[in-house]
Amino acid sequence: MSIRFDKEQRVFCLTTNNSEYQIGINEIGILKHLYYGAPVGQSNMNYLDSSSDRALSGNPYDNRVKRDMSHDTLPQEYTTNNVGDYRIGSIQLQSENGSFSCDLRYSRHSIKKGKYTLQKLPYVRGKNGNLAKDEDVDTLEIVLEDPVIKLEVKLCYGVFESKDVITRTAIIKNAGEMSICLNKASSMAIDFPYADFDLIHFQGKHCNERQFEREAINHDIITVSSKRGMSSHHNNPFVILADRTATENTGEVFGFMMMYSGNHKFEIEKDSLDSIRLVAGINDTNFNWNLGAGEEFTAPEMILAFSDAGLNGLSNIYHDIIRENVIDAKYYDVKRPVLINNWEATYFDFDDDKIKKLIDKSSQLKIDMFVLDDGWFGERNNDDAGLGDWFVNENKLKGGIKEIADFANSKGMRFGLWFEPEMINENSDLFREHPDWALKDPGRNPMISRNQLVLDMSRTDVQDYLFESISKILDSANIQYVKWDFNRSVANVYSSVTGYEDQGKISHKFILGTYSLLSRLLDRFPDLMIEGCAGGGGRFDAGMLFYCPQIWTSDNTDPIARLSIQEGTSYGYPACAMGAHVSASPNHQTGRITSFKTRGIVAQSGTFGYELDVTKIDNDDEIRAQIEAFHKYDKLMHHGNYYRLKNECNKDFFTAWSFVAKDRSEALVNLVVKNKEANQKIPFVKLIGLDADKEYRLEETGEKFSGQALMNGGFAFSNYFIRNGYFENIYPSMQAHFIGED
Ligand code: DGJ
Repeated sequence: MSIRFDKEQRVFCLTTNNSEYQIGINEIGILKHLYYGAPVGQSNMNYLDSSSDRALSGNPYDNRVKRDMSHDTLPQEYTTNNVGDYRIGSIQLQSENGSFSCDLRYSRHSIKKGKYTLQKLPYVRGKNGNLAKDEDVDTLEIVLEDPVIKLEVKLCYGVFESKDVITRTAIIKNAGEMSICLNKASSMAIDFPYADFDLIHFQGKHCNERQFEREAINHDIITVSSKRGMSSHHNNPFVILADRTATENTGEVFGFMMMYSGNHKFEIEKDSLDSIRLVAGINDTNFNWNLGAGEEFTAPEMILAFSDAGLNGLSNIYHDIIRENVIDAKYYDVKRPVLINNWEATYFDFDDDKIKKLIDKSSQLKIDMFVLDDGWFGERNNDDAGLGDWFVNENKLKGGIKEIADFANSKGMRFGLWFEPEMINENSDLFREHPDWALKDPGRNPMISRNQLVLDMSRTDVQDYLFESISKILDSANIQYVKWDFNRSVANVYSSVTGYEDQGKISHKFILGTYSLLSRLLDRFPDLMIEGCAGGGGRFDAGMLFYCPQIWTSDNTDPIARLSIQEGTSYGYPACAMGAHVSASPNHQTGRITSFKTRGIVAQSGTFGYELDVTKIDNDDEIRAQIEAFHKYDKLMHHGNYYRLKNECNKDFFTAWSFVAKDRSEALVNLVVKNKEANQKIPFVKLIGLDADKEYRLEETGEKFSGQALMNGGFAFSNYFIRNGYFENIYPSMQAHFIGED
């Protein structure tokens, strides 16, 4: 059992192979956060008590004689409101009697084998379905209560012993008669009284998602959030607290990832005593949730991880848990299809003839799947019209989707189709028939973005329409894959079928509606694979990964821009989740010219594919070789460990990353030079994660090196690599495959 309760000292110990998390119940029932970090043996960490009598930090009434205990200074597990803690609160509410206060005390707990699940929300799976691999996971549930307003907060902890992961969430219940309005309902809080951290987060914009940013935490509140109705291009729901001295390969780092695709908020505060608090959950902007008697609210799940092996160590923990317990197990051992998508080849300008030519050529190149992107439905000839009308545009595709899918199948290819289910154009039959299905404030014109409005996904009639119209198309042909897009930020959140008092639920109910639609479609079409997308990587989060094994990482397909996008994404998410394609050069987003090889090396570090008009280029042999290489390295890249060897922050002239097999039997090093200069330096890296005692043969040259030498002495991309085309293009790339000798 990875969870132990010391009855005498009232301490919970949550123990994984390489981390320890401890919670204490103090003498008046306040739930204290005692410790999170490296293993501490059997020690109870309540000896690290930081209590002291501090002026202006008042005391709970039931402990008023002992002036050293204050909500304001205690490290806690879920923080209160309006009862004397002036730091970030986890919960904000107003009870029917007008009071804002919430004071939570321990009521009871239970410890059980297995993992708790959540209703209507994605969660980290405890048992990995098809893999039939029993996970060492245990659940701790602690119920806190406010006896005055009869509010119960159940804190759930899932402890994945061998994965070094702890999941957390909070289920808030109105156990009384009075109605309670929640204005903030976080998933978790945690306090680090003795830490000195930097905050690492992943900011960005459309075409430049998840850029690594590291900043010192000073005496202030830093917020990393989205209120765009999606997890967003702008701030990924994943942050890292890193010891100031921590690097890629050394030091203590803590990850906090939210499994949610909508509005989120991470708040990080350093208080006047230098204690650092992190509170995370659904964004409280435009949020309020009326809890009637007996009703519950479930906050999204958080995935916590600790590593004392720096950021690479932390990333590999997240990669494993996402691959094995978030993404549906049926994808674990299955090769992802190499696909070709027609978007950058044709945009909206296609017909059956053009598409068939693309399919024909792709099949000769041994590409596995053809994906027909935006423009096949309704009056969709540009981005002005058609969203919502999920029936085929027969002016473009005379034989319908079936004929195209059959054609692809006849050429030995699978077929996939694009949808953007949650959106509607004003110029669509759907809008003409159901104008009230779009989110729109009464008496106010809505914000328009890409000429489209957002459907009210909180409505079951909208969900039913989408389920039926999408199912009809999926039934009409052999469609094995759907690309699920979402191309604008949400605004004017207002549902015309919801009363005044429940409008604050709509943003969250929107996401629940999307999750429900995804679940229904996957139940109805169990073999369907859905790739997530939101104008590129606007919904790249663990919530979507629960339903979609891969997500289109960015609308920017330029390999040089992709270096930092994919690298930023790699801090939390594995390569098998990142959609990456070889596209045309000059690149359509940046105009940059790069070699086919460099485009291939970058795209191969994701779920590989093409996004260009293969009928107009003569790189056939290269394409065949790239696909062969992708198949060769598929297992290594999608199941192995991943290491950033020379990251973007180094501002060096090249970026390098590697994949190392779990059994350390082989390693693949990838390298792209970003700044070429005359009289160029030789790129040099130190490998990570090899077997020090093993001998490795470099496949390209036959040379042999010891694992210890490659890790401590390093490897220079000289001679062979330079002779083989190093100077041939502006952004040279190289790949070195090391095979362990027995
Ligand atoms: C945005 C996506 O990210 C693109 O790949 C493409 O599908 C377009 N939408 C289509 O509108």
